[in-house]
Amino acid sequence: GRVVVLAGGLSHERDVSLRSGRRVAEALRGTGQEVEERDVDAALLPSLAADPPACVVPMLHGETGEDGAIREVLELLGLPYVGATPEACRIAFDKPVAKTVAARAGVRTPASFCLPHETFRELGAAAVMESLVATLGLPLMVKPARSGSALGCTVVRDRADLPSAMVNAFAYGPVALLEQFVVGAEVAVTVVDDGEGPRALPLVGIEPDGGVYDYTARYTAGSTQFVVPARLDDEATAECERVALAVHEAFGLRDLSRSDLIVDPDGTVWFLEVNVAPGFTETSTVPLAVQAAGLDLGKVIAGLVHAATT
Ligand code: DAL
Ligand code: MG
Repeated sequence: GRVVVLAGGLSHERDVSLRSGRRVAEALRGTGQEVEERDVDAALLPSLAADPPACVVPMLHGETGEDGAIREVLELLGLPYVGATPEACRIAFDKPVAKTVAARAGVRTPASFCLPHETFRELGAAAVMESLVATLGLPLMVKPARSGSALGCTVVRDRADLPSAMVNAFAYGPVALLEQFVVGAEVAVTVVDDGEGPRALPLVGIEPDGGVYDYTARYTAGSTQFVVPARLDDEATAECERVALAVHEAFGLRDLSRSDLIVDPDGTVWFLEVNVAPGFTETSTVPLAVQAAGLDLGKVIAGLVHAATT
């Protein structure tokens, strides 16, 4: 039957999602599958109800897509879909919640504070800055609690840059996460489970030319070097795989996830976040991991569709 790939939406990652959806749809078509690419709008629910597809592949990034909302709708309609349940999405998409759940599962994650905009205003920027910088040290990362593609994220190296970093994070949502900055190698670990149990694909090392893996470094061809497999020794590689699999299990994820990790110079692995609808653009890491595993992207997604519908 027909597979609907959902892409676009109204999150800040709309453009990225359209690119991911296009690539996933093309890869699936390459396996002979009938595919419809569909944006999200008011007509989505009635049209899915009137003409139910065999399966839905939600390639929506950011809000609605990764926060579980669209999957609630798919559950209501009784439609099979690829990927995590709404409950698991809610845990994964909220970075402070995800860090807490990861820590409880024995996974290391950088020290952090969660700061609602209200609190920031009430206490006053200066007071907040003093105590947070004293506790977390510099540099530190400022991020929106719920966002993707590094939007609203700033590496703060100088305390004078903290207020603008906070404003940048609050532009994407009412809660900011301030996190200790861990120096090390950034690594993306894809976990795939098409019915045989979750397994980690080859690690992708991320080496942005400018040093920071921001939105531009993510989506401008040639501005980041992706090294597959990542330049890590066997022990660190095994530890990254263990962490990604532990997170996949502890969060109750399904089918596909991508954990973003930092390996520090001592070989300690730090969990940053996990993505329930990771990017599939021309510069995204999951397709590189699939290719390095010697697999065909279309067949992998077809395998996930098959697993979701049987
Ligand atoms: N949020 C983007 C799509 C990613 O993680 O790949
Ligand atoms: Mg993300």
